[in-house]
Formats: sequence, C-alpha cells, structure tokens
Amino acid sequence: MKYRVNPFLSWALSSAFLLAVISGILLAYPFHEKAPFVSTVGIDTVVPYGWFLRRLHYFSSWATLILLLWHAGEALWARAEERRRPLPWLALSLSLPLIFLAAFTGYVIRWDETGKLAGFIAESLSLKLPVIGPYLNALLFTVREGGIHRPYLFHFWASLVLLGLYGIWHFRARRWPAEPFLLVFAVCGALALFLPVGLHAPGPHLLVKGPWFFVGVQEALRHAPPFLAGILLPSLGPTFYFLVRVPSLRRLSLFGLILWSAGYGMLTLWGLLR
Ligand code: HEM
Repeated sequence: MKYRVNPFLSWALSSAFLLAVISGILLAYPFHEKAPFVSTVGIDTVVPYGWFLRRLHYFSSWATLILLLWHAGEALWARAEERRRPLPWLALSLSLPLIFLAAFTGYVIRWDETGKLAGFIAESLSLKLPVIGPYLNALLFTVREGGIHRPYLFHFWASLVLLGLYGIWHFRARRWPAEPFLLVFAVCGALALFLPVGLHAPGPHLLVKGPWFFVGVQEALRHAPPFLAGILLPSLGPTFYFLVRVPSLRRLSLFGLILWSAGYGMLTLWGLLR
C-alpha cells in the first residue's frame, strides 16, 4: 500500500506557521530594534498580555519546527507526488534550513545572553566559509558591528519567503479545515498559559546553551574544527535530504540522512544533558 502524507498534520503545520507569523507581527509592535533585550523584558512584564503573546510565538514556532520535520520525514516515505515533482521537493528542502534560520534569528534578536552568544558564534562561523562567508554574514548576522539589525531583517523576510513557499502549495484549498487550527491553537495556547519562556539575563554565566536545535553544533564545536562542526555538519542534513530525490543517489543519501540524524540527535542530547 502506498504511504501518503497525512493531510491533518500538513494542515496543522500550516496552522502553526500562520500562528507564528500572526503572533510575530503583533509582537513586532512593542518590540524595539534599538533596545531588544529591554523591550523583550517589557513584553514579558509591562505590555498587557505581552507575556502570553511572546509565549504563543515561542511555542507556535516550536510546533512549526517539529511539524515541518515530521512532514519532511513523511514526504520521504510517500512514494507519491512529493518526491516526483521537482518544484515541491525543492520548496520543501529549502524550507527546512530557512525555517531553522528564521527560528535561530528569533533567538538572536531577543538579545539576552543565549541570543547574543548564538549570534556571535554564528557570525564567526559564517566568516569561516570561503568566498561566500562575508556575504552570508552581511545577509544574516553582522551582530558585532550592527547588533540585531540584520538578524531582525532576516527573521522578517525569511518568514515572508516561507509564507510564499507554503502558500503556493497549501493555501490554495477552497476550504480550510477548522480542526487542525483549533488543535494547534489549543495546544500552543495551553503551553503559553502554563509554561514560562526563559530569558538569560546578563551576568557571569559558566555555561550558556544556545537554542535546542543549535546545541548539537555547539557540542560539536567542542570536539572538531569550526568549519567541520559549524558549517559542514549542519549543512549535511538538508543536503542529503535534497539528494534523496536523485534516483541514482537515493540509497546513499537515505543512508547518509539516517546516519546524520542519529549523530546530530546524539550530539544534541549530549549537549542538553551536560
Ligand atoms: C512576519 C513574521 C514574524 C515576525 C514579525 C516576528 C517577530 C518577532 C519578534 C519581534 C521577536 C522578538 C520578541 C521576542 O523575543 O518575543 C521574535 C522572536 C522569535 N521568533 Fe519571530 N517573528 C516572525 C515569524 C517567526 C517564525 C516563522 C518563526 C519560526 C518558526 C519565529 C521564531 C521566533 C523565535 C524562536 C523567537 C524567540 C522567542 C523568544 O524566546 O522570545 N518567528 N519574533
């Protein structure tokens, strides 16, 4: 029997992403680029229901990342259109690094100790890339010189590009089923009501960990040179994923992807438990 992508989960993914974009746009009003940390603290403590909005943005972005990973995994098994048609496959492969970069820059722009550290490491790593390094840094980071200006810009326009990518395939339906949206809203809303989202205040910290999906890179950086740990390692996963579509490379890429996922998962776990 052919395995098909679960439509409910695809709609749940679209709903989580829309919720992240809507809550992000609302957050952008009280957020000030010139005073990012202070305004994030203000959102949490002074702005009416700001704490809820910030948590909603945080948990809907988590839901988006997890559901997209799930969706990408399902599309690998599905023998259907997803893998035969090149454009949807390219869009799906591109949206993986793009959504993680969008979330990553989200952490950077709150400009607490975690965000700053993640921004500084990412800037140093991107500058290690031959030829395109300085351009990539200018596009995404330049945090030492310009603070959060570039990551904030990227955070915004990457979300718009993703909205376009999803929109082409997912938002054309005449009828939007209410159930996935209600479920995603209820789960993210409940998490936002009860679970606080941390902020790492400035101070002498012995160990600052980056966002959960970056912890694997952070851990690898302790054992391997920056180019291997910070650039090659994170780019291998999406590259293997994309190459699965090439018939002659399918088996090899699948094997590489499984190995990479297990290795990166273990590094992440190791880093989180440390
Ligand atoms: C137009 C779309 C978006 C806008 C205008 C926006 C705006 C913002 C703003 C102003 C912040 C800083 C305030 C804060 O830290 O709470 C932020 C943080 C963040 N954003 Fe977005 N965002 C958008 C889309 C997204 C998307 C699509 C994702 C990921 C799927 C995402 C993930 C994050 C994360 C993880 C944070 C850090 C949350 C925290 O810990 O406080 N954002 N965003």
